Formats: sequence, structure tokens, C-alpha cells
Amino acid sequence: MNPTTSKRRIRIFDTTLRDGEQAPGGSLTPEEKIRIARQLVKLGVDVIEPGFPISSPGDFAAVQAISRELQGVEICGFARAVKGDIDAAVRATADAPLRRLHLFLSSSDIHIDFQLRKSRQQVVELARSMVAYAKQFVDRIEYSPMDATRTGEEFLFEIVEAVIAEGATIINIPDTVGYALPEEYGRLFRRVRENVRGGDTVEYSAHCHNDLGLAVANSLAAVQAGVTYVEVTVNGVGERAGNTSLEELAMAIETRKETLGVETGIRPEEIYAASKLVSRTMHMPIAFNKPVVGRNAFQHEAGIHQDGLLKNRSTYEIMDPERLGIPRSMIILGKHSGRHALRHRVGQYGVTLADDELERLYARFKETADAQKTVSDDELIRLIGETTARVIDRFAVRDIQVVSSSDRARVASIVITDHETGEEQVYSATGAGPIEALTACIKQAIPLEVEFEDMELHSLSSGEQAAGEAEVTVRVGEALYKSSALDQDVLMATAKAFLSACNQALRAHAPVRVPSTSAASAG
Ligand code: KIV
Ligand code: ZN
Repeated sequence: MNPTTSKRRIRIFDTTLRDGEQAPGGSLTPEEKIRIARQLVKLGVDVIEPGFPISSPGDFAAVQAISRELQGVEICGFARAVKGDIDAAVRATADAPLRRLHLFLSSSDIHIDFQLRKSRQQVVELARSMVAYAKQFVDRIEYSPMDATRTGEEFLFEIVEAVIAEGATIINIPDTVGYALPEEYGRLFRRVRENVRGGDTVEYSAHCHNDLGLAVANSLAAVQAGVTYVEVTVNGVGERAGNTSLEELAMAIETRKETLGVETGIRPEEIYAASKLVSRTMHMPIAFNKPVVGRNAFQHEAGIHQDGLLKNRSTYEIMDPERLGIPRSMIILGKHSGRHALRHRVGQYGVTLADDELERLYARFKETADAQKTVSDDELIRLIGETTARVIDRFAVRDIQVVSSSDRARVASIVITDHETGEEQVYSATGAGPIEALTACIKQAIPLEVEFEDMELHSLSSGEQAAGEAEVTVRVGEALYKSSALDQDVLMATAKAFLSACNQALRAHAPVRVPSTSAASAG
């Protein structure tokens, strides 16, 4: 209990680097694991399970390096109920200032009969003897009866009682196949605590999989049933449909903490960076509509919603994206957007429109939005230029050329118009890939130190004629600037979006001086 807030503290156990890494295609090198583990510490997790030490020399090395480097976080050594696994986990975590061992063995009849091919009695004996063996080395022992939610209560109680008697200090009840319903899962924790001898002397941990989309709901039910730990992964990555998503659980607790009466140590401002890092390192894109960290999670296209938001954010948002470290761009311009939102977005470029200008722009905007799904930043700036004769962006892409080859560096050249001087300049550069070559060209034109931070590329429909949408984020110092562009040529879309984000950065650093033919200044 936190005496200042009178809320019970829920401990976040992060298994991105162990269970999360079991996601198909998600495997990580030791260096990648170390980088993610550092971000997890910044994020404020309480426990990190960095891998499965017996599984490979690389995983052993990662667990060892993380145990040696990270302070203020408990390191969990993962092992089957097998001596060799336990020995490896003990050695790999030996230098951690705070550690636990996590032993698991299946408990459901389906697993015992078909996978382990052992009797129930053999399972209990193995669990008992391996906990006793591990306890010689480490005091904090977590025990997981795998597939617990499909194990009959009676046998589950028998195993849990046996491992507590041998010194297990934390009991995890994994919903290994994501089968449980929230009410059932919460009740199971209560039943174990009440019916197992020693059940009230240990701590409990929840571990849920998301096969039915219930992992967060089940974890919250476990929280309400009194568990201390919740096992989660960043972005919910993991086997099949994944594990409980760290950011969803943490923000559910944060947003509804008064009702739940609990809190976590998660720092919301580090959530976005953690999510991006895991997604990029594991090469696992985040669904647009993923709660908390998805691209659409804080974006609004419907005119009524946009109107409400512009009057007061809380009309349609229950969390503040800026608190989560998410660059704010809540208004997505599309065919459902109204004049109010359009005027607001144009205002963000520093331009105030007269009513007749707004009407002309709105008509062109609706035609474009009807023809495409969204109106990108790059396109809106072009429309403003066409309908009001104002130049907003200092630089514009006029032409690109890229030569690709499978054995040699890619060569790009680009023609950029500088609206401030009225001149066109040609830049060329090479890169390991065409995008690197293109962005190297553009950086030569921009009078700022710009870093390429992130990019998403998607097709807006299917088939060869589909337009590609590029969304590029650049960094100047600590500030991020994000912009989007559409083109049938994805390299052109990328170049335009990159340059548009650079233009945004330039606007933030100095007003753009536009040529005299423009009707008004956009600075
Ligand atoms: O899902 C599961 O059962 C697990 C355990 C081994 C804890 O990941
Ligand atoms: Zn799992």
C-alpha cells in the first residue's frame, strides 16, 4: 500500500524478452535485448525476464549481461523443472542485485498425457523436487503450473500446495492458451489462496495470453482478486495472439485507478519510446487501431468528434497522448472532416484564412478526400497553395531519380525548389538503400541538423495502381516532427514526406520568408 495515495502497488513483470520473443519471427540478438532492457528500466517495470538461459548461448549471454548491468529491477531466471535449466538460470542471473528463479511444468491433463507422458503423481513429485533443488541457490522462487486454467481445481491445488511446502514464494497461474474468462480467472486466484495450505503466505502473479482478446481483461480480474504481479509484454507481443499488453494494462490502471484502488510504477511518458523500440527491433508493426500506441489511437476523423475535441479534448479522449510521449496530431483530415477541423489544421501552419478562402479550400479538400482515403500533410499544403496562392513550405520536391542495383550502393539525385530564393537545386548522394540515398540528398538542402527518426509505409488500396502513403518522423535535437505524403511511387512519397517533416522543423525554428507573389506570409 502506498501511504501517500492509499493505493495498492501492482508490480509489473515484463516478459517481452522471454515470452514476447517467442512470437513467430520476433527473435532478438543479445545486443537488442540489452537495448530493450534499458528502456524497460526507464519505463519503470519491476521485474524483467530477459530470456531462457538454457535455450542458447546467446540467450544465456543476454540474461547474464542484463543481470550485470541493470540496477533497481528484479531479474528473473526462467527454467523448466529440470536441473540443467535451473543450473543455467542460476549461473546467468548470479550477478543480479535482486533476482528470482521462475520454474514451470505443465499441469493440465491435456499437457500431461500428450506432451509430458507422465502421471499426475510424477508431475507433483517433479515440481516438488525441482523447487527444493532451486531453493538451495535462490530464495525467491516463482512456480508456474503451465496451462493452469485448463487444469482441474483439485489437482491445481495439490501442485500449488506441494511447491509452497518446498519454498516457492510466488505462484503464477498462467492462462497459457488464452482460454479463461475474466470472472473465472479472478475466482481461480481467490480459490487457490483460500483452499491451498500456505496459500496466504505467498504472492501471486497473473500471466495471460490473448487468444480470445481477453488478456488485459483477465489480468485486471486477477488484479482485483489480489495478485501482486502482472506478467506483460510491450505491444502485447508473444506466442500466437500474444500476451497481456504492458501499455494497455498500465494505462487501464492509470486511467481507472480510483475505481481499481491500485497503481503501478510505470512512467507513461516512456511508453511510446518503448513501443516503437520493440516494434522496430522485432520488425513487428503495430496495428493502426491498437489501444494506446496505435497510429489511430488518438486520431479523429469524424467531423463531430473533431469539433468536440477542438472545444475540449476530454469530449472524445480519456488519455492525453502527450503524457505518453506520443507526438500529437489528433486531427486526421479525411472525407468526414468539417470546416472547423480544416481551419484548425491550416492555422497550425500559421495561416489564417478568410471565409471565402476557406470555402474554396474546403471544396477542393472534399474532392481530394473523396478520391483518396485521407489528405496527407504534403497534399494539404499543395491545396492551400493552389487555392490561396500562399506558400507554406520553404522546400518542395520537384523530381527524383534513384538508381538501384543489387551489388552496388544506391544512387539518388533530387531536384528541390527553394521558395525562399525561387531557385532549383540538384543534390545527389549514395546510400545502402534507396531511402538512405534520398534522405542524404534532402539533408544537404536543409539548413538544420535533421535525423531520420522513423518511417511507416503502406499501400492505401490493393493492386499495382495503389497509392503508397509514407509517414516520416524526423528529429531535430529533442523535438520530433511528423509528416505524411501520398504518391503512386513509394520513393517519391517518402521523399515528399521527409521533406515536409523537415519543412515543419524549419517553421518551428524560423519563419519562412515567402516570395512576393504570395498573397500573404505563412510564417
Ligand atoms: O504461457 C505460459 O504458460 C508461460 C509460462 C511458462 C509461464 O509462458
Ligand atoms: Zn506465456
